[in-house]
Amino acid sequence: RTVYVNGQYLPEEEAKVSIFDRGFLFADGVYEVTSVLGGKLVDFAGHARRLERSLTELDMASPVDMDELLEIHRQLVEKNEIDEGLIYLQITRGAAADRDFAFPPEDTPPTIVLFTQSKPGLADSPAARTGIKVISIEDQRWGRRDIKTVQLLYPSMGKMMAKAAGADDAWMVEDGFVTEGTSNNAYIVKNGTIITRHLGNEILHGITRAAVLRFAREAQMTVEERPFTIDEAKDADEAFITSASSFVMPVVDMDGQAIGSGAPGPVSARLREIYLDEMR
Ligand code: PDD
Repeated sequence: RTVYVNGQYLPEEEAKVSIFDRGFLFADGVYEVTSVLGGKLVDFAGHARRLERSLTELDMASPVDMDELLEIHRQLVEKNEIDEGLIYLQITRGAAADRDFAFPPEDTPPTIVLFTQSKPGLADSPAARTGIKVISIEDQRWGRRDIKTVQLLYPSMGKMMAKAAGADDAWMVEDGFVTEGTSNNAYIVKNGTIITRHLGNEILHGITRAAVLRFAREAQMTVEERPFTIDEAKDADEAFITSASSFVMPVVDMDGQAIGSGAPGPVSARLREIYLDEMR
């Protein structure tokens, strides 16, 4: 693989970052994951906007402007011949002289790393036909989940808890209400209405979420952006998740209990189809 690190395209074995990098020592960094379909970037503009917002919220400088960033994404797709897959981007506050909680001097160059992940068949995933199983867990993340930071330990633990329970992923619950999935936004469908938590600091403002809700409204579907409980989810007709890596993915089981018929429902299936049609 050819990767990008701090201005250079290099074979992955040669790409290096300092042990004093604040991303490594303090999780002081932000990231984006953009999907590639048919060799084309999906919603790059949305990811670029969210990246700028994450950087601003953390007072972090970007080492590149958004046009350069687009060019790097395109170069990596080309160099690695990515037809379907993902591009991972990470920007950190850079490497300080030593370990120190205080931010380093303003002239410290940020670290930027990008790499591709080839995933042939990503859009035609068999999981989309069967649906996935989730468990519910307490949301123990920090309070600024709207910023896409690389602090992903709790979501990793959540996925391991799901695996141990024989499920595929976990939905996180705070004060009785579902926030989101470990790496995706969460939705239920009841009597034809699509329900998903409203935007705020409690969830990541998904780029796929924004597109899917726009397509749903354009198709005259009813959307309610409000908190919903885990009991409502278990009693729903359908459930699904959205993210750059799963697009729209039906959820058919929660905590061992079937949702609706226990098979992917018509609303989830239609939204997946519309999304992929529009984005391909
Ligand atoms: N995760 N919520 C969380 C906590 C996420 O980590 C993600 C994305 C989403 C969906 O956002 P988007 O639609 O912009 O991908 C929601 C990425 C895919 C990841 O960490 O791999």
